[in-house]
Amino acid sequence: MKHLKSILLVAVALLVTVGLSAKPKIRIIATGGTIAGISTTSASSAYTAGQVGIQTLLDAVPQILNLADISGEQLVNIGSQDMNDEVWLKLAKRVNELLNKEGYDGVVITHGTDTMEETAYFLNLTVKSDKPVILAGSMRPSNAISADGPANLYNAVAAAVSPKCRGIGVLCCMNNQLLDAKTVIKTHTIDCDTFEGGPSGIIGYIYNGEAHILQTPNNKHTKESVFDVSKLEKLPKVGIVYGYANASALPMQAFVDAKFDGIVLAGVGDGNFYKDVFEVAVKAQNKGIQIVRSSRCPTGPTCLNSEVDDEKYHFVAALNLNPQKARVLLMLALTKTHDWKEIQEFFLEY
Ligand code: DGL
Repeated sequence: MKHLKSILLVAVALLVTVGLSAKPKIRIIATGGTIAGISTTSASSAYTAGQVGIQTLLDAVPQILNLADISGEQLVNIGSQDMNDEVWLKLAKRVNELLNKEGYDGVVITHGTDTMEETAYFLNLTVKSDKPVILAGSMRPSNAISADGPANLYNAVAAAVSPKCRGIGVLCCMNNQLLDAKTVIKTHTIDCDTFEGGPSGIIGYIYNGEAHILQTPNNKHTKESVFDVSKLEKLPKVGIVYGYANASALPMQAFVDAKFDGIVLAGVGDGNFYKDVFEVAVKAQNKGIQIVRSSRCPTGPTCLNSEVDDEKYHFVAALNLNPQKARVLLMLALTKTHDWKEIQEFFLEY
């Protein structure tokens, strides 16, 4: 009996030791971008994105092995200017599978910075987990002097293992900063400090391998989201029309002729149209093509029933979403409803 007791005690001690020392399981999904880019010479700004594979990215920052039990997979290897609905659907389904069926504690996605904000917001609306999902990229290619990719990847893993990053939606991690999926925006074409968090600012930062959260988002996301892509093989077609003085109505008309399901206006000021474009927009809405008014202005909401009587025309106001994110929400909203009032409600909530 005494012998059995000693065996049990050793077994319990081993389990506790293994339990305490087990690192979080983090999966890194690579999609390409500058972080995987190669420049002609380390000092040159001429480069091609999406050239090196996931293992090269992981080998460049072995310190992540101190933070987590790391494994990786290559989903695609593209410049994110080529990101598309097919990759979005694959990525969302794969993240949900990793977090809900394969027991991972978090996911890091390496991604180009050009459309990172759109992918982050799409995942914010379609990931069904409160575990951390962190996107990371870089503004300098992998072989550049002072490449920023390895540090961004290290910080993204540090965020992914942090309990503070649970339940606050999908985040982007760039230049030591954490930015939430709804407000993150690329603001500079070449600066490493290109990402900002809009009027509400960054959501937190990473310092010395620790995540520090300053604020939490108040919009619906991830597990609270009604949008489910698990059975979707394609997404509704939504285009964006840019507004400017004396704007041509041809782009808007082209989307109507191509039977798009929705059209977002990157309007002037508070989401206003040039008169010729306005006429086509009204006809489009009457044909059942949902019009969403957003703005080309970098900050400020596009307000409901301001200079445009949305109630009268059944247009939706994008509120705090810029055109590229309004497009993401409209695509997913159209998988649930074509009712303009219900879609407007989604813009209030997400
Ligand atoms: N081709 C751009 C992209 O993949 C490069 C920008 C970057 O990743 O920093 O988004």
